[in-house]
Amino acid sequence: MANSFYITTPIYYVNDAPHIGHAYTTCAADLLSRWHRMRGEEVWFLTGTDEHGTKVERAAAANNVTPQQWCDNLVNSAWLPVLATIDASNDDFIRTTDDRHKLGVQAFWQRLKDNGFVTQGKYEGPYCVGCEEFKLPGDLVDGTGEYQGKDCCPIHSKPVEILQENNYFFALSKFQAELISHYEANPDRIQPESAYNEVMSFLKQGLQDISMSRSTVGWGIQVPWDNDQVIYVWFDALLNYATAINYSGYADGSNKAQFEKFWPAVHLVGKDILRFHAVYWPAMLLAAGLPLPRTVYAHGWLLVGGEKMSKSKLTGISPNQIVDHFGSDAFRYYFMRAINFGQDGSFSWEDISARYTAELANGLGNLASRLTAMLEKYCDTRVPAPGEYLPADQQIIDLIASNAKKADEAIDSFDIATAITFTKEIVDAVNLYVTEQAPWVLAKNEANRARLDTVLYVIAESLRAIAVLHHPVMPKATTLLWQMLGATALGSIKDQLMRSAGEWGQLPVGTITEKKESLFPRLAEEA
Ligand code: MSP
Repeated sequence: MANSFYITTPIYYVNDAPHIGHAYTTCAADLLSRWHRMRGEEVWFLTGTDEHGTKVERAAAANNVTPQQWCDNLVNSAWLPVLATIDASNDDFIRTTDDRHKLGVQAFWQRLKDNGFVTQGKYEGPYCVGCEEFKLPGDLVDGTGEYQGKDCCPIHSKPVEILQENNYFFALSKFQAELISHYEANPDRIQPESAYNEVMSFLKQGLQDISMSRSTVGWGIQVPWDNDQVIYVWFDALLNYATAINYSGYADGSNKAQFEKFWPAVHLVGKDILRFHAVYWPAMLLAAGLPLPRTVYAHGWLLVGGEKMSKSKLTGISPNQIVDHFGSDAFRYYFMRAINFGQDGSFSWEDISARYTAELANGLGNLASRLTAMLEKYCDTRVPAPGEYLPADQQIIDLIASNAKKADEAIDSFDIATAITFTKEIVDAVNLYVTEQAPWVLAKNEANRARLDTVLYVIAESLRAIAVLHHPVMPKATTLLWQMLGATALGSIKDQLMRSAGEWGQLPVGTITEKKESLFPRLAEEA
């Protein structure tokens, strides 16, 4: 739908607690959600948990609890709280153990069976429990160390298991040609380009039918026409994107509104699960006669020692460890700015500390404190009326107009780091402007009053634009900045429109500003 924007994260496995790799995808989805809301679009931001399958079943058994108890406990103690930790503004949270999901999944597969896309068959081959994936021979690597001589999963570096099961197959092979022509006609449906190329080469190798059910797994959604099988966990999980917006109501015609309003979605996924989202899921949608996803964007990995950060490899860092020290805004800013969204990147404590101090505390935080201190000292806290603009002022005005537009465009291509950099360029330019215009020198001579007022207005109005542009990145700090500027007269910050963020002259003259605590306090060890 034209003015709606439906964005999803993958639903996360609850075999363990979240690490910063999971929080990374959620942060990106949150930033994009907030940005699109500030374009006046009706946004639906979905995240959730993937609770069925062998991995979760085994984790529960190892801890002597039922799978349901295990899931309830982890969702409530870890997965829901992490959303608050990183300040996520999700509109919904789906669990694959929700009734709304189970019903939708069963209705969907019954429909595919009725449409002739499900057959009976036998699967014999490798399976990676870490990925919950039937592997193709070309997907595997030789094991090293204790796994020498064994076929291993390249992501989990652990041996695959060999399965022999009678189960049901989804007729994936029937969709090869249709998917290739769809993507050739709409290359922007898979981004970035490297992901597009990977999917196209996979599609061109040919597709094989794939198991859609499991006969040796107990923890799952029952196949509607066979009590002895459960639906393969990925073919249950992918459907969350539809069941969360009431696919059941859409399918039986009882309530089509929500599905029709929001479908199709933008899916943010890690590059490890691209094939599921850009091949299997669209094939399922074609089989059901539903429109294909608006975009599948595959982002890079957070690496530790050159490998994907993961709990199973004991390299996971919990989001709390970082947020407790730096705050949620700095967490969001750091991960979204320091790593290009489509590429891998490494986290380091040194890097986040350095950027916090340079870009947030000394950059933006200091600019805001200096402005409110000067307005208190020279203007009785009020935003003064600007006089004639000189070239130095006009440069700032022009930079804001142009960078606000460029940041908005960067968001359209999911280039989040670049969008943030455009705003940071404004912060740097205004800091330099403050140094060069030296309002404290102007203030020494009453003859400079008009110039002093103009300079202070330029700084205040620049901070108004910066607050708006940075709001999706750092909701808390920018809300505080909005209050400092007295900009609440313009309405709440989240209701500002990105489209007009760069338009000059919005902060009303005479507005009372307020000195507050610093936006980014100095870090504990430095204090
Ligand atoms: N449950 C499946 C997804 C089903 S979606 C229908 C799954 N879950 S997962 O918990 O293993 O990982 C989900 C997502 O977490 C990844 O695709 C990725 O978005 C994110 N990440 C997990 N580890 C990550 C990194 N080390 N770095 C960046 N993102 C990572 O796969």
